[in-house]
Amino acid sequence: MSLIRQAIDYLLYRARAFKLHGVHSPFVFDLYHQVILHDGTYYAFPRVEAIRQELLADTTTIAVTDFGAGSKKLNYSTRKVADIARTSLKPAKYGQLLFRLVNHFQPKVVFELGTSLGITTAYLAEAAKNARVYTFEGCPNIAKMAAQNFESLQLQNITQITGNLDETLQSQLQHIPQLDFAFLDGNHRYEPTMRYFEQCLAKAHEHSVFVVDDIYWSAEMKRAWQEIKKHPQVGQTVDLYFVGLVFFRTKQPKEHFTLKF
Ligand SMILES: C[S@@+](CC[C@H](N)C(=O)[O-])C[C@H]1O[C@@H](n2cnc3c(N)ncnc32)[C@H](O)[C@@H]1O
Repeated sequence: MSLIRQAIDYLLYRARAFKLHGVHSPFVFDLYHQVILHDGTYYAFPRVEAIRQELLADTTTIAVTDFGAGSKKLNYSTRKVADIARTSLKPAKYGQLLFRLVNHFQPKVVFELGTSLGITTAYLAEAAKNARVYTFEGCPNIAKMAAQNFESLQLQNITQITGNLDETLQSQLQHIPQLDFAFLDGNHRYEPTMRYFEQCLAKAHEHSVFVVDDIYWSAEMKRAWQEIKKHPQVGQTVDLYFVGLVFFRTKQPKEHFTLKF
């Protein structure tokens, strides 16, 4: 998508976005106030960011297998670790938002679709030490680097699943009773995003939380986000522009919020 289109989408988001006074749902009001906008720091933040800095300085080249958006079949290429760290990872602001969401909701089972080098995984795992974080990555060399990062941070509550999500997601879902928290951040195209969303939905419950990444990244992702909002099982959504939050609370009205973040 062109930079001009992205700039227009962002300005439209800013024009739509409410501040606190525009939110009538007590659930979303409290979430916004206490979790989304919370600006305190946690012990985990500098630990995870120190690993990001190491990755950003790492000029090693690795062979990368790309299963994601833009590739109809597998693409093999070599990339510097530093370049992957610069372009593929969620910035600290969003990793720390995910940390706060997990810290607040204390899910037991967390799925992350798209590990990359494991920075966001580390935030998810640090936020709920009693949770099991299942993180999915297609590229074995990238997954290996993520494993080293989990070891450096001594994170023991992460299970890595390596392979194409088209094959690994459904089989892993069969092994869990329910899915409490999901971060959908792999393969940013319409069809796989909707398919993975539906697969995860089959294990969702009243208090599950899904976070969909890059909801304005392309026309396909914008379409996927609109469909997720309309889905009959979806209750409340919060559009924060770079991510969308999805809730399934049946005792509250179906509502969609666009909030400044
Ligand atoms: C945007 S990155 C994930 C970033 C990570 N969640 C973070 O915030 O640090 C997306 C990752 O998903 C992986 N991916 C994309 N499509 C995939 C697929 N079909 N199966 C498995 N992994 C896939 C890519 O290899 C890439 O590493």
